[in-house]
Amino acid sequence: MRVLVTGGAGFIGSHVVDRLLLAGHEVTILDDLSTGTRENVAHHDGERRFRAVFDSVLNDRVVDTLVREADLVLHLAAAVGVKYIIENPLHSMRVNVRGTENVLESADRHRTRVILFSTSEIYGKSPDVPFREDADRLLGPTRIHRWSYSTAKAVDEILGLAYHEKHGLPVIVVRLFNTCGPRQRGRYGMVIPSFVDQAIRKQKITVYGDGTQTRCFCHVEDVVDGVMALLTCDEADGEIFNIGSHEEVSIIQLARRVRQLTESRSEIVLVPYSEAYEPGFEDMSRRVPDLRKIHEFVGYEPKRNLDDILHSVIDHRRTVLDSERALGQDRG
Ligand SMILES: NC(=O)c1ccc[n+]([C@@H]2O[C@H](COP(=O)([O-])OP(=O)(O)OC[C@H]3O[C@@H](n4cnc5c(N)ncnc54)[C@H](O)[C@@H]3O)[C@@H](O)[C@H]2O)c1
Repeated sequence: MRVLVTGGAGFIGSHVVDRLLLAGHEVTILDDLSTGTRENVAHHDGERRFRAVFDSVLNDRVVDTLVREADLVLHLAAAVGVKYIIENPLHSMRVNVRGTENVLESADRHRTRVILFSTSEIYGKSPDVPFREDADRLLGPTRIHRWSYSTAKAVDEILGLAYHEKHGLPVIVVRLFNTCGPRQRGRYGMVIPSFVDQAIRKQKITVYGDGTQTRCFCHVEDVVDGVMALLTCDEADGEIFNIGSHEEVSIIQLARRVRQLTESRSEIVLVPYSEAYEPGFEDMSRRVPDLRKIHEFVGYEPKRNLDDILHSVIDHRRTVLDSERALGQDRG
């Protein structure tokens, strides 16, 4: 297949690209490098079946040309990361709503199958864990930027499902829960690479809130396994799937485990949310996926545990920080 991956120079996108190329597909990425990097895909430079277009999903003409040439679109391009969204509220809404509209409009015009990458943020602060795909959503006020990401992604899902229902466009929605692994960066508020960098640099490990909030982290390779399995599943069209892991850990336990595995003596400190993000910021105390649906459709089962994730991130961040230090670019 000829596959267009928007956001293909990003953390998850670049792993998806690796796997698509390995499976023999032709891949074009469209990325504006706002949070992604050329290095994430540099190992494919010069490959015959790989092409990179550095432009925005807001550029509807470019989107249309690339979608026309593709048999399948994986739409990952988005403004991502709690910190990034809070700092860039207007731009984030435009990219996450208008960008997706561009992709869906072109896909509809050219009858191209689309996989939309959505998020567990959809469920908001609902206490009803584990979250099923058809569960109610519970969001806070519009003035709190965090909820704008959830709302924008919900609009994307609604649009995608409407195209499927009204025009028969093959669209699959995947809701990813916290995804981690090599190439993820801590700069925009991603917790595992942030803790790992702080521990390696012997800085304080900053836990936001009281640290009792829990998350289930999933290795990016497991997420890609799930996505790849859906590519060959026709019954998945028009459906929404959670993808993630069940292994639940509190953020304070996570900080301790990172400190242990990096053999660091960094102090772990608690930082109030209002200081870390914005006044009125709310976090969800638990976020656990119900994975029965994707298991039923394609037999999905995550294979890696939290320690596998942490080892892979620690190895990767050590390599990156060492080379930045050698080049005098260490930003720590
Ligand atoms: N990482 C997670 O835990 C997680 C969880 C849920 C959902 N997701 C979703 O997965 C997708 C990928 O996220 P990620 O974690 O790899 O983050 P990322 O920031 O590494 O990837 C996003 C990519 O999109 C690109 N991009 C942003 N705006 C763009 C634009 N206007 N035009 C073209 N490209 C643009 C960025 O440069 C980046 O390469 C996103 O849609 C995100 O909502 C991620």
